[in-house]
Amino acid sequence: MNQTYSFPENFLWGGAIAANQAEGAYNQGGKGLSTQDVAPKGVMGPITDEPTADNMKLIGIDLYHRYQEDVKLFAEMGFKVFRTSIAWSRIFPKGDELEPNEEGLQFYDNLFDECLKYGIEPLVTLSHYETPLHLAKEYDGWVNRKMIAFYERYATTVFNRYKNKVKYWLTFNEINSILEFPFMSGGIYTPKDKLSKQDLYQAIHHELVASASAVKLCHEIIPDAQIGCMILSMPTYPLTPNPDDVIKVMEYEHSNYFFGDMHVRGRYPGYMKRYFRENGIEIHMEEGDQETLLNTVDFVSFSYYMSTCQTADPAKQIAGEGNLMGGVPNPYLAASEWGWQIDPQGLRYVLNMFYDRYQKPLFIVENGLGAVDELTTGADGEKTVEDDYRIQYLNDHLVQVGEALEDGVDIMGYTSWGCIDVVSASSAQLKKRYGFIYVDRHDDGSGTLERYRKKSFHWYKEIIASNGKSL
Ligand code: BG6
Repeated sequence: MNQTYSFPENFLWGGAIAANQAEGAYNQGGKGLSTQDVAPKGVMGPITDEPTADNMKLIGIDLYHRYQEDVKLFAEMGFKVFRTSIAWSRIFPKGDELEPNEEGLQFYDNLFDECLKYGIEPLVTLSHYETPLHLAKEYDGWVNRKMIAFYERYATTVFNRYKNKVKYWLTFNEINSILEFPFMSGGIYTPKDKLSKQDLYQAIHHELVASASAVKLCHEIIPDAQIGCMILSMPTYPLTPNPDDVIKVMEYEHSNYFFGDMHVRGRYPGYMKRYFRENGIEIHMEEGDQETLLNTVDFVSFSYYMSTCQTADPAKQIAGEGNLMGGVPNPYLAASEWGWQIDPQGLRYVLNMFYDRYQKPLFIVENGLGAVDELTTGADGEKTVEDDYRIQYLNDHLVQVGEALEDGVDIMGYTSWGCIDVVSASSAQLKKRYGFIYVDRHDDGSGTLERYRKKSFHWYKEIIASNGKSL
């Protein structure tokens, strides 16, 4: 017998995107360049001096001009929440100006109003892999302490502007990904192979202080808002029961838990102090930093796509293909076309791990399957995609969310990634699609930008309407 799951009445069902992967209009409305505008091959590729025509994000899916049509489709699915980011360089084009760009502010007023018109709550990420390029080039991004003040000015500006419209905020997207992608995640212009651990962890300190400061500002400016951190979660299993593998996993998990621990507990954990000691790292703390860090988050949000394994055996250390944060493949799991290993139970596991550790409400703000879709004509004569594989993936994961709810985990909501097809972050392709809505645009730049409902569109609508009972 199929189990029926009890999702809370106020469960926030919806979808997620990021400004840089969807909006396009990279040089319109007074926007300055961001790190994404010079990264035509995605987070792992080389960067260019200037924006180049092969960069799919410059046009994205043109959400900047089509947001009304898109939000209407989200409303048709019954979204309660829509996660997007504000492109920092639309508000402060260079990042270090004193006054914001009114046209950029107005765009987000329009976007949030459009959501609220349908009763959709905006969930807004302040910084999603789109640091103003000037801050990267001129200051080396978060390595420089001045970034804290720039970020505070930006956060204060948008909190004040949208205080009556936005009640859910996230400070930094996948903040722990700076360990792998210092440029995209931390705006650090120094190439990764030249970046010292000292500078990397000092940059992280600056980001953590800025994040805690944003929490404080948000609570002061919008007392009825909730603000969370956002972690790239990747539950990690030992490849074998060898205790060496288990300890390796513990240490690897610490490197990521560090970010959640700081946001929830506000103090450097003992295991990090040991890591700093053993690696000759000395974090420069200014007066007041510790006090600021104690402004802890209201909830913990995270992305979940895959799990991974770790082994202490050097002979088995083959990086899993396409596996963003390292690790070795799990022999029990199949993988997506991009090599991301599919593990629905890992979502239940990570929900339990986070909840046991933090006892804070959790929000799954990214989850989904990147796949190649084929546009066909349905029985009703409408163009569609028969994406049963996506329905299967999402259904399997949501069942595990249901299981975690049964376990007693407090979960605020679920926003599937790329609810409308967007440009991929890792590979900068549009071919890697996640959406319930197909966008007719292709990696060679062709396409009409028309939107079409996939089969999963109707499936998700039903899931939301039944509050998860139809899983
Ligand atoms: C997360 C990012 O890492 O994964 C998103 O927050 C990204 O920006 C998503 O798009 C999926 O990754 P990709 O590389 O398939 O787009």
